[in-house]
Amino acid sequence: MPETTETTDPAIPFSTRIREATAREHEEAENSTFISEMLGGSLGIDSYRRYTGQLWFIYRALEKHSAALAEDAVAGPFIKPELARTAELERDLIHLSGPDWHTDLAPLPATADYAARIEECARTWPGGYIAHHYTRYLGDLSGGQVIRGHAEKLWDLPHRGDGVRFYVFDRIGNPAAFKREYRALLDRIGVDELEQRRILDEGKRAFVLNRAVFTELAAEFPARRPS
Ligand code: HEM
Repeated sequence: MPETTETTDPAIPFSTRIREATAREHEEAENSTFISEMLGGSLGIDSYRRYTGQLWFIYRALEKHSAALAEDAVAGPFIKPELARTAELERDLIHLSGPDWHTDLAPLPATADYAARIEECARTWPGGYIAHHYTRYLGDLSGGQVIRGHAEKLWDLPHRGDGVRFYVFDRIGNPAAFKREYRALLDRIGVDELEQRRILDEGKRAFVLNRAVFTELAAEFPARRPS
């Protein structure tokens, strides 16, 4: 799909530009083999446990530098404690893997690459960090809810309880309103056009990094096919 005019036209609100710029990548992530097979029920709960463990590395990277980023003029407005997911992931992992969940947990190579890139942005490039923040948190507030519904049903996990807490934003009463405000923040991003374009590119890169994790997970969990 060619890049749309919205992506390249600076007169278009930045929230629209980033959504348009990553639309194709979003479709690919949504339709990745691993996500489709996991949510389609052809993989066991092990796949969900492994996926949740990988998310822990990603969110630790996203949230480790929150205090410093909160002080930053560009990234600061996006740092909202109600989005933080590390504690929720830890509760889910205790439920899914037991109290020693951390002992055998290791990042896949793609997860390590992704987390390293997030941390690099968090430490050195607030604009790039926003691209990663957007890709994960706005996705969790949107398609994440679809994943939660499937996971609860497929593996009999408690509704909005331990095992799926990652997808439950207790402190966000109205996700639609929250997303509207988030998009308004994107539209007020205080950076010039060149930097905006660099952020759009980093957004695409964030999706590619997510897809690489799915690819490695798919290799680890081949779908059970009828013999
Ligand atoms: C089962 C897989 C997925 C489904 C069903 C799904 C579905 C959706 C839907 C329906 C929306 C639109 C929500 C709205 O307009 O309020 C959305 C938005 C979004 N999703 Fe996904 N998604 C999936 C996977 C992903 C993945 C893997 C990522 C990235 C890691 C992602 C990132 C996003 C982002 C950033 C948005 C916000 C777009 C915007 O309005 O700017 N999604 N998703």
